[in-house]
Amino acid sequence: MTNGTAVVILAAGAGTRMRSKTPKVLHRIVGRTLLGHALHAASGTRPDHLVVVVGHDRDRVAEAALGTAGELDHEILVAVQEEQRGTGDAVQAGLEALPADFTGTVVVTAADVPLLDSATLTDLLGTHTDGDGAAVTVLTTAVEDPTGYGRVLRTQDGQVTQIVEQKDATAEQLAITEINSGVYAFDHAQLVAALAQLRPDNSQGELYLTDVIGIARSAGLLVRGDHVDDEMLVAGCNDRVQLSALGRELNRRIVARHQLGGVTVVDPSNTYIDVDVSIAADVRIEPGTHLRGTTRIGEDAVIGPDTTLVDTTVGAGATVLRSEVHSATIREDATVGPFSYLRPNTDLGAKGKIGAFAETKNARIGEGSKLPHLSYLGDATVGVGTNIGCATVTVNYDGVNKHRTVIGDHVRIGSDTMLVAPVEVGDGAYTGAGTVIKRDVPPGALAVSAADQRNIDDWVLRRRPGTSSAEAAQQAIARIDEQ
Ligand code: UD1
Ligand code: CA
Repeated sequence: MTNGTAVVILAAGAGTRMRSKTPKVLHRIVGRTLLGHALHAASGTRPDHLVVVVGHDRDRVAEAALGTAGELDHEILVAVQEEQRGTGDAVQAGLEALPADFTGTVVVTAADVPLLDSATLTDLLGTHTDGDGAAVTVLTTAVEDPTGYGRVLRTQDGQVTQIVEQKDATAEQLAITEINSGVYAFDHAQLVAALAQLRPDNSQGELYLTDVIGIARSAGLLVRGDHVDDEMLVAGCNDRVQLSALGRELNRRIVARHQLGGVTVVDPSNTYIDVDVSIAADVRIEPGTHLRGTTRIGEDAVIGPDTTLVDTTVGAGATVLRSEVHSATIREDATVGPFSYLRPNTDLGAKGKIGAFAETKNARIGEGSKLPHLSYLGDATVGVGTNIGCATVTVNYDGVNKHRTVIGDHVRIGSDTMLVAPVEVGDGAYTGAGTVIKRDVPPGALAVSAADQRNIDDWVLRRRPGTSSAEAAQQAIARIDEQ
């Protein structure tokens, strides 16, 4: 192959400063792991080869990497770095995953730089191959506090000559604020030659990838520095303070993207939107809203305040107020909340309503049907135009198995009806308040099960004498007797 492109993502480090049993690169921000962000950015450049170098906790990291191949629609190669002997050694391991006849450009990036995007990598590739083509092009940026980063050394006329690590730098070099982002483009053949010359003769005893730059310069090859102004694009994550800062910044950018796309976000600092969420124009998002996973929202919908939607589809014109919704479908002009909990496989029809303090699960509610207050609907199908009275419960669990409840069209379920499943209520049927339904109700029937009411006169006066109830009753009876 001539002039191919490969991206090598370094993900073998331990990430000890996270102090976590989870590998650093599998921590999440805005609904995606750090590794996932790196893979999306890399695959967005459509390289011929995409390699992830794993080492620490390799099975988990490799499995996570390979698990994204489907959503990326890109093949992922996993390379193992047996021992973490430094970034140069990690790249060496990565190159071994490439076909033996590979030639062209190798982009190297780290798995812990979540804001790095495809556009920046594509620009890097463009700069690298521009004109004569360089042996190395390194992405740099200027930071206020360069502590911990490799410093970029340039000549008077701006050519990059060397990168010096913090631990190996002189006091003068430490004052440099232009840093190595850890993202590079290399000519493959020149990279292979330079890697063979790396020696661990530095304060950390590691094989530094950064030494490739000095080696290339000494060989008279061209090294370019590609400066990015937006330092957050190349900001790395080493601990959980940085993790939250990166998450906040990425969320801010996602929210702004939706705002510029026509979404009203009342308070961006109190709105959380995962990276894969899609929102149509003229949606209004109130404060305290969390939109997670693959949630999709149709135009003119109003979401929040204080609402969480996970992997949920909301139709145009619907409203969801102070509610928690997981893997559900809320169709056009339907309303949900306040204070309801919609669990997986809830499907609320157009113009339907799930009101206050309701819980639903695996429940299909037809167009225009309503569950207005204080009810539980699980494993149920409800037709169109049906009203389900307050405090109705589908008694779906017999202690061992779950059973279905089927309610027809234009049914009126009376308040406090217990529907003991499996059971079916026919079209146009009614149930009386407080009914326990154990047998099917035919279309058009009224089902009642509560016994006739019996009043036992003066029971309170006899059995609860001296109480405030008895006193109140006595006075009322006296007033009635006077009339
Ligand atoms: C590295 C750079 C430094 C740069 C900084 C940017 C070197 C020598 N230094 O420093 O100039 O400013 O990144 O963040 O390259 N990794 C492996 N195997 C290893 C060692 C590291 O896969 O043996 C991976 C890590 O998982 C990580 C990346 O390489 O994804 C960078 O390693 P890290 O140890 O964080 O390098 P820094 O010391 O930060
Ligand atoms: Ca680092």
